[in-house]
Amino acid sequence: MNTKEVIELSDRYIMNTYRRLPVVMVRGQGVRLWDADGREYLDFVSGLAVNSLGHSHPKVVKAIWRQANTLMHVSNLYHIEQQARLAQLLCENSFAAKAFFCNSGTEAVEAAIKLARKYTKTSSKNGAGKYEIITAKHSFHGRTLAAITATGQPKYQKYFEPLPPGFKYVPFNHLQAMQEAITAQTCAIMLEPIQGEGGVYPATKEYLQGVARLCRENNLLLILDEIQCGLGRSGKFLAHQLYEIEPDICTLAKALGNGFPIGAMLAKEQVAQGFEPGDHASTFGGNPLACEVALTVLQVLLDEGIIENAAKTGQYFKNKLLELATKHPQIKAVRGAGLMLGVELTGDGQSVVDYCRQQGLLINCINNKILRFLPPLIVKESEIDTALEILDRAIMN
Ligand SMILES: Cc1ncc(COP(=O)(O)O)c(C=O)c1O
Repeated sequence: MNTKEVIELSDRYIMNTYRRLPVVMVRGQGVRLWDADGREYLDFVSGLAVNSLGHSHPKVVKAIWRQANTLMHVSNLYHIEQQARLAQLLCENSFAAKAFFCNSGTEAVEAAIKLARKYTKTSSKNGAGKYEIITAKHSFHGRTLAAITATGQPKYQKYFEPLPPGFKYVPFNHLQAMQEAITAQTCAIMLEPIQGEGGVYPATKEYLQGVARLCRENNLLLILDEIQCGLGRSGKFLAHQLYEIEPDICTLAKALGNGFPIGAMLAKEQVAQGFEPGDHASTFGGNPLACEVALTVLQVLLDEGIIENAAKTGQYFKNKLLELATKHPQIKAVRGAGLMLGVELTGDGQSVVDYCRQQGLLINCINNKILRFLPPLIVKESEIDTALEILDRAIMN
């Protein structure tokens, strides 16, 4: 099918939940994508922080092929070796002692909310009345009902009321507001160390360390949503390592399968014990195929210098964006960490995105004014230079 035919078919049969761009991607290799008309693009979106090892990574492709030929799915009624080994690898490289697997980010967030409530209600003598979770304004935690309610952006909640009770929002990076929001009903605080969909806003070190202290002092659980900023994107394996703190619960998804759907919720030992058989489940969650893929992804990420590359090229990219900002008054701010970077513009960002795409560079724009850059973590400085040349022209245009 050609581009026009695919777009017509898609418009006819696909529900209208995305404002899609008029392109059909048909092939990917490393940092590059090709559309149905044979045009080549530098992909600085990575399926929204998913394809961290690049497209069609040979070891990931091989893992899918190998495992699909052996055993794709059995239910969680049985033990699954790949699931246990994946949990071991995640735990041995993080604060966590146990993992729960699901299929997406929003499901990992749901699992975290349920675990936080159950653990709190059952672990302390005055825990029964504690259910409230404080989150941040501009946060994003997913699209299921509890996750949109946890999300501190009213635009995602409108028309879906009644929303589940028990969520409260405070301004991000404002420690006093957080302290004042804690009540006798609070059971947890949930934050993204670097807000993604809200506009690429990193927490300050002072703030996140202060929140961790508030959690300790008030006996609250700290849930960190690392679905976008985790797994190497920030230049550390988990972004909270930049802040030298530890959460009680952490959510992951996106890059974990490099495109194969899988999510995870990690927790410390004592907190994980809040869940007992029957409390939570997922038919597909943690099946042999998804876990074999994620195991391969993590091994490549951890063993092949990918995270170090994200830290190094991320700093290079950020410095160059800051240089660009001195040249273009249209650039109001440059922020982010590792290869999760944002450029806030004074004017329209969509025209910049469109110009870049026409010149062979894919980037994303939030709220029509914040350009977001999420290249694969394998990106080279020379590819960043090419992207910057296009961006320079796009902003001038
Ligand atoms: C921080 C964060 N949490 C949760 C989600 C939801 O993940 P998913 O779309 O896989 O459900 C996202 C997705 O963008 C995210 O960035």
